Amino acid sequence: MMQIAPSPRSLTDSFGRRITYLRLSVTDRCDLRCRYCMSEAMTFLPRAEVLTLEEMAAVADAFITRGVRKIRLTGGEPLIRRGAPDLARMIGRHLGSGLDELTLTTNGTQLEKQSEALFAAGIRRINVSLDSRDPDRFRHVTRWGDVEVVLDGIAAAKAAGLKVKINMVALKGLNEDEIEPMLRWCAAEGHDLTLIETMPLGAIEEDRTDRYLPLDAVRADLARRYTLTPIADRTGGPARYDRVEELGGRIGFITPLTQNFCEGCNRVRVTASGRLYLCLGHDDRVDLKAALRSGGPEAMAALLDDAMAIKPLRHAFRIDERDAAPAVARHMSVTGG
Ligand code: GTP
Ligand code: 5AD
Ligand code: SF4
Repeated sequence: MMQIAPSPRSLTDSFGRRITYLRLSVTDRCDLRCRYCMSEAMTFLPRAEVLTLEEMAAVADAFITRGVRKIRLTGGEPLIRRGAPDLARMIGRHLGSGLDELTLTTNGTQLEKQSEALFAAGIRRINVSLDSRDPDRFRHVTRWGDVEVVLDGIAAAKAAGLKVKINMVALKGLNEDEIEPMLRWCAAEGHDLTLIETMPLGAIEEDRTDRYLPLDAVRADLARRYTLTPIADRTGGPARYDRVEELGGRIGFITPLTQNFCEGCNRVRVTASGRLYLCLGHDDRVDLKAALRSGGPEAMAALLDDAMAIKPLRHAFRIDERDAAPAVARHMSVTGG
């Protein structure tokens, strides 16, 4: 069979994986403090270290030139940065000419105000974190969030024409009894649902081991009540989906612990300070900010090649050991998930 050589301009790592998906963190800040994600006393990047929106757009351009076809804005909470929809508009200009999808992961608190601007920028699909629909429980998980604000935001997104996927981190003793109700609500609302295993990133007040809920068991439990048919649909990220026949909706499972998906990794991350991290679960990185500010596009292109050489094969997350240090010291909110 004839092998099609990848374009010399494409980004391919040392394991032959093509990088086509960039997760671009707009800010490391967040207006919530989800317990599994952040500690209560987080420190954030000084503003001087954060890339300007124009610099972020230049980073996006550099990746699109090298074959990236999907860009997801992440955080922290991307929509609390002033001008986030402007950034979406700048990047969105490439949709249809190099870029296939511009999307966003958000906690939903700003969606009521910003959904229309996001749609106008070319975004058609967003992922919204929602670990509980119960007001007290939502407040507990997020430390001070108001679930009504998020639910109104999700409704506004839907009304603006955005397809919504709900992200729910499965947490033992916290929201496990809400997985099935969430699935039914999502199906009724026309949203997809993705369940996520909690990952050991950054120090928090509790031991994530105590909250860890393996999704193979959750899926088996759901399969006793619903017909789950595996489907080949892919959204570009690590989720594997089933159709829930009785409800007509889709459920995705993100299983870093119970079923490693790194073999098919197609993504890298850029932090708000311009660091390019090659894996969520490792510290390997290059500094794009320096290249961007002092070297220009050629320096950045050369750095992207250097980066491909150091992308690790897989993460080494473990959650079965109590009191173990997190696999990486930085929180999810630094790398953008
Ligand atoms: P889709 O475009 O809908 O497939 O979304 P996505 O799963 O790529 O993005 P989202 O921001 O919704 O991420 C959902 C969860 O998947 C978050 O907890 C991410 O940290 C996690 N995730 C995304 N990519 C990776 C990855 O490469 N490795 C690991 N371990 N987790 C990831
Ligand atoms: N493990 C798993 N998921 C996490 N998220 C944040 N921190 C963690 C963690 N430690 C989730 C958020 C959001 C997505 C980007 O990542 O809930 O949906
Ligand atoms: Fe904020 Fe998202 Fe982390 Fe919650 S999970 S604290 S909403 S960044």
